[in-house]
Amino acid sequence: MTDVIRGSETPLLEIRDLRVSFGRRGSRRSREVVAVDGVSLTVGHEETVGLVGESGSGKTTVARTVVGLVRPDSGSVLLDGQRLGPAGRRPAALQRAVQMVFQDPRSSLNPRMTVAAMINEVWRTHPGSAPPGDRTTALHRLLDDVGLDPSVAGHRASELSGGQCQRVSIARALAVGPRLLVCDEAVSALDVSVQAQVLRLLVDLRRRHRLSMLFISHDLGVVHQIADRIAVMHRGVLVEEGPAGDVLGSPRHDYTRSLLDAALELNTGEGIEA
Ligand SMILES: Nc1ncnc2c1ncn2[C@@H]1O[C@H](COP(=O)(O)OP(=O)(O)O)[C@@H](O)[C@H]1O
Ligand SMILES: [Mg+2]
Repeated sequence: MTDVIRGSETPLLEIRDLRVSFGRRGSRRSREVVAVDGVSLTVGHEETVGLVGESGSGKTTVARTVVGLVRPDSGSVLLDGQRLGPAGRRPAALQRAVQMVFQDPRSSLNPRMTVAAMINEVWRTHPGSAPPGDRTTALHRLLDDVGLDPSVAGHRASELSGGQCQRVSIARALAVGPRLLVCDEAVSALDVSVQAQVLRLLVDLRRRHRLSMLFISHDLGVVHQIADRIAVMHRGVLVEEGPAGDVLGSPRHDYTRSLLDAALELNTGEGIEA
């Protein structure tokens, strides 16, 4: 709908016929694993697309290709129509535009650095991202943005809770002014109550910063809470894609139905109201 208002047909993110394989080392005849096999997907301006599928279906490989950490065999990734190459070769503006939030907030943060040092490092290493004016003021504003007290700036990751660490990870992504957040199982490692808080934060940030999101999770119940559209991956292939209500309410593919049944079993009594 936003595209219609903007009069633009170009989605923010376009993944075209992506194929990624990994060679198996160790065996005499190396065996190839095709992790992603012809995936095409778009994320519109200010849209959140949920990418779901069981473990090993290729979701993380899609995410890592979008941020440029994995080089595809074929296919392309475009942001606003501009081709995104490997991370190191992206022009600074494109590098900043696509940021990732990882699953394990602790291992994705340097335990020995203070939060302030981590954010300052991001500003130092991403050309054009440093905020104008006083850095401390900007840092406190950034922490406030993700619901953290300014005092957190002086703490190391090892002194913070899992939820606080994930808020720091989100702040680190936001520090460079992204347009697309790729969240790979970003709440999966958190306790259910903290999960809900971080999801609410993401929904809030999306609105305030007009962000688009590729939100990846094996958990349909979580994706249901945030996605406008849902794409379902199975063994490297997209088997179903559509508005969240349609995919959850009347899934067309057997695999989606089995994912839904599994989610309903886990939430007995509650279920997923679609
Ligand atoms: N770096 C890698 N080297 C070899 N195989 C990999 C690598 N990354 C992923 N794979 C394989 O690709 C497939 C998809 O993995 P992944 O993208 O991590 O799936 P998901 O995130 O849905 O669990 C799996 O079979 C996995 O073992
Ligand atoms: Mg994964």
